[in-house]
Amino acid sequence: METTEKSFLDIPNPREEVDALNPYSAPLEGRRNLLRLDFNENTIGPSPCVIEALSKISRDEISIYPEYSGLREKVVETLIKQNSSVNINSSEVGIFNGVDAAINAIFHAYGNSNDLMLTTSPTFGYYTPCAQMRGMRIISIPYEGKNYQYPFSQICELIEQKNPKILLICNPNNPTGTRLSPERIIEICKISSKTLVVVDELYEAFTGDSVLPLVTFQKVPNLVVLRSLSKTAGLAGLRIGFAISNSTVINIVNRVTGPYDVNSFAVVAAFAALKDQSYIDSYVNKVLEARKWLRNTLEKFYVKHHIDGGNYFLLWPKSNPEYIEEKLKSSGILIRNMDKKKNLKGSIRVSIGTIEQMKRFWSIFQVIDEV
Ligand SMILES: Cc1ncc(COP(=O)(O)O)c(C=O)c1O
Repeated sequence: METTEKSFLDIPNPREEVDALNPYSAPLEGRRNLLRLDFNENTIGPSPCVIEALSKISRDEISIYPEYSGLREKVVETLIKQNSSVNINSSEVGIFNGVDAAINAIFHAYGNSNDLMLTTSPTFGYYTPCAQMRGMRIISIPYEGKNYQYPFSQICELIEQKNPKILLICNPNNPTGTRLSPERIIEICKISSKTLVVVDELYEAFTGDSVLPLVTFQKVPNLVVLRSLSKTAGLAGLRIGFAISNSTVINIVNRVTGPYDVNSFAVVAAFAALKDQSYIDSYVNKVLEARKWLRNTLEKFYVKHHIDGGNYFLLWPKSNPEYIEEKLKSSGILIRNMDKKKNLKGSIRVSIGTIEQMKRFWSIFQVIDEV
């Protein structure tokens, strides 16, 4: 038996790629009762209709495996109601245990060892481990300039030259807020039918630009759009998200997920949340109002910041981000320290909630950072 520090037990070795992975280390514990501006979640909770529907869940719904009938149709109906140019059908929607699970399944279905995953940096942290665990090669292109522009020309060139299997575009990007127009996404999709272009639209409802109204999946078959009920509808704890693509891609990706991976509570909550779209719209409007207030305030006080798409922004405090993070936490407010992220040295990311919540954040931040 090989006795290294990592594998001292006499058990089978994991796959090499998995052994090499660092465990995901987000600070996810002990967050209840604090003002959580660290994970871009909904800061006021889901619609009362969701709570009511969950409280009425029957014994049967708990004791039998979940049923999904009608949910894909409801997603389609909601997307078309939001924008009448959306042209999709229910066979083009896949239901997943959060968008995280959709991302993992896409990599599982399409990512061969040594295939290339192309993305940008900094971006959402889950794309890279999903590629690494399949032994894929990874190229991450930095956002450009002080406004973090999408590196469009470089990405197009790399698709032509290197033939990536998967291109991951987070639009708007977490954490830079960078927005890429739907027209440019379609241009990218057309470069090579061999590249699956996955557009993570988790935050597009806040300030973003969905590609959905501009495409049909028959004409742009290598495009996958990801949507979730975590951030807008406040269902992060229940885990439900959607992949939208042509029916062949959805069928393939569904093959690598368990038949009951999304639980009954999530399904009941999703129906209730989608029925109460006005609640989601009103929450989004509250965030947009708070965003406007924040932008004015940060400009007025000459605080270095970057606000673009999404329900979050970057801020460069005068003090060390770790100190700010600790001090805010001891005042009951969580934010995300971005100091160690490439190109974001010295920054923190703050999620945007309601105007009252942002005023609370600001009044404490001002004292800590002596603004
Ligand atoms: C860009 C992005 N994509 C996906 C996710 C995960 O979404 P879900 O909660 O639906 O798994 C997150 C969560 O923070 C995210 O920021």
